[in-house]
Amino acid sequence: MTDTQFLLPESSIPDHWYNVVADLPRPPEPPRAPDGSALTPQALEALFPPALIAQEMSTQRWVPIPDAVRDIYRLWRPAPLYRAHRLERALDTPARLYYKYEGVSPAGSHKPNTAVPQAWYNAQAGVRRLTTETGAGQWGSSLAMAGQMLGVDVRVYMVRVSYDQKPHRRSMMQTWGAEVIASPSPHTAAGRAVLESQPESPGALGIAISEAVEEAAARADTNYALGSVLNHVMLHQTVIGLEAREQMALAGDYPDVVIAPCGGGSNFAGLAFPFVADKAAGRAVRLLAVEPASCPTLTRGAYAHDYGDTAGLTPIMRMYTLGHDFVPPGIHAGGLRYHGSAPLVAQLVHEGIVEARAVPQLATFEAGVLFARSEGIIPAPESNHAVRAAIDEALEARHSGQPRVILFNLSGHGHFDMASYDRYFAGELRDYDYPEAAIADALHGDGWNVVVHAHTSIGAARELAESLNARRPDSAVAVAADLRDAAAIEPLAKAAHARWQRLDALVNNASSYHRTPLGAIGVAQIDELVASNLRAPLLLIQACAPLMGEGGAIVSISSNGGMGFSRRIPTIMQLLQVPDYAAQVKWCEDNADTVREGYAFSKECIIVWTMLMSNQLIKKGIRINCTMPGPTQTPMMSHFEQATKASVL
Ligand SMILES: Cc1ncc(COP(=O)(O)O)c(C=O)c1O
Repeated sequence: MTDTQFLLPESSIPDHWYNVVADLPRPPEPPRAPDGSALTPQALEALFPPALIAQEMSTQRWVPIPDAVRDIYRLWRPAPLYRAHRLERALDTPARLYYKYEGVSPAGSHKPNTAVPQAWYNAQAGVRRLTTETGAGQWGSSLAMAGQMLGVDVRVYMVRVSYDQKPHRRSMMQTWGAEVIASPSPHTAAGRAVLESQPESPGALGIAISEAVEEAAARADTNYALGSVLNHVMLHQTVIGLEAREQMALAGDYPDVVIAPCGGGSNFAGLAFPFVADKAAGRAVRLLAVEPASCPTLTRGAYAHDYGDTAGLTPIMRMYTLGHDFVPPGIHAGGLRYHGSAPLVAQLVHEGIVEARAVPQLATFEAGVLFARSEGIIPAPESNHAVRAAIDEALEARHSGQPRVILFNLSGHGHFDMASYDRYFAGELRDYDYPEAAIADALHGDGWNVVVHAHTSIGAARELAESLNARRPDSAVAVAADLRDAAAIEPLAKAAHARWQRLDALVNNASSYHRTPLGAIGVAQIDELVASNLRAPLLLIQACAPLMGEGGAIVSISSNGGMGFSRRIPTIMQLLQVPDYAAQVKWCEDNADTVREGYAFSKECIIVWTMLMSNQLIKKGIRINCTMPGPTQTPMMSHFEQATKASVL
């Protein structure tokens, strides 16, 4: 058997950080000032010392690491790389699994890799006080430790839900001399604004960032430090991947896939960016960022300009975002509850160089427990996201019978997260969707007025509309309609238009699912699938398009289940040309073999219809698109799982 640990001597601590900007196919888009104007380095001086501003804007491939910083890195770097022999055996996989373990730092995660240089550059510039935010508590404790070592006072705004879940993270920060405040707090205008509209707010990283930035901008003696997202943070973390590349060489291996959890993006960038350089040089390596299904920034967010914080105090950056006022559910991976993403990671996802995947909470804890029981280390809930994806890749290797080399980042240990594990074992954790309510919420946050349609869940839709109206009066309304009833559709479109005398966008999202195996297809099921998944969106598009002006937009949610459409375009065209509904249902019955998987077929039809209509609608200045978001934890997914479990899994 090969070795389990691959260790480097202290002399191998990198002496330069790697700047991925030098290897991007296109230069990154510069950030903008909060008012949208060009951002000057001077504008950042209220928050950051000059050396960090220069790193933020740097295009230089290698940036030297100061000796004083390397000297502190010696306390835990180089971090070990492990081959997960025991996990491989537990999974009975031909895959070779390796993990880089960042939990050996004093604070227990990768975060000190940037906390130390940030505190050091501030101290060099004569700054003796820093504010920051923390989600999981890992970043706050890292900066507290670094500040203590370098003579800088630290005040941490800690996201409320983590403040309550992790009292010992608070104690750690206090041990290292920092002051800890639950966010949203009454100390800042940003915190007070949130508390006014939502006194029970669980907080979010975006809100805590607003508070820390507001305070630093207002005080001459105080700078601000951010634990993720910004280019200089990504840069500092690359010590992880630079070491890992050397350690993989020691193991005589090279990864097929590099995996890391992704919140703001820093530990992902740290491990993966040095492999981007290899990829740019032609080496085949997949890079996979893993995020929570309840806060699916990279997989479901828009690639758009947005603020890094909730109150709109930070610069505007191009990134994947769920809207800067999106408050994710209180999952137990606090470090991943962020509405946005690092612009550099987002750009790499956008360019197809990095892949992203979203995983639900329970599956991540299940993976973390299996990991702990085989490898011994108890991972942080954030790190469990990478463990989950690494296990899934290893299982995939088992199914295909092909070995593959998997490298993942175990970004931190979970010793201060045991209350979360307790709740998992007690069956008290649950999966959260990024439900349709959240789409409405995020659009609303971007200034749209929304008409929330619902059928059976009209109560929840009314509650949502009320909460949106509490935030911005007269901005949301809930409307009930059964979309299977053709007669209900035109009035629905008219009511939506009548509310504000305009209609700018339609999101066709409603859908139903039944299994329809050959030999068991009932007329009623065909009827329902065709009515809700095909006829309703078609009629809605027809009813809404004339009410939209130029610039209108229509999005229909299809499914990966509809991917077979290209093989069947002629057949689908036959159905789309059948004029009336009864005849359509008859066509489906007569072609039972074709519509065998009724759900998938209805989604194929939507794709073809979207292509057909785009021609006509674009002449009216209306865009129409169809998306296939991939398996997504929505309430429908549980019906799908129940229906397919026995026969498919
Ligand atoms: C252990 C751990 N892993 C991952 C993350 C996610 O942050 P990032 O994406 O910046 O690495 C955090 C954030 O707090 C964390 O504490």
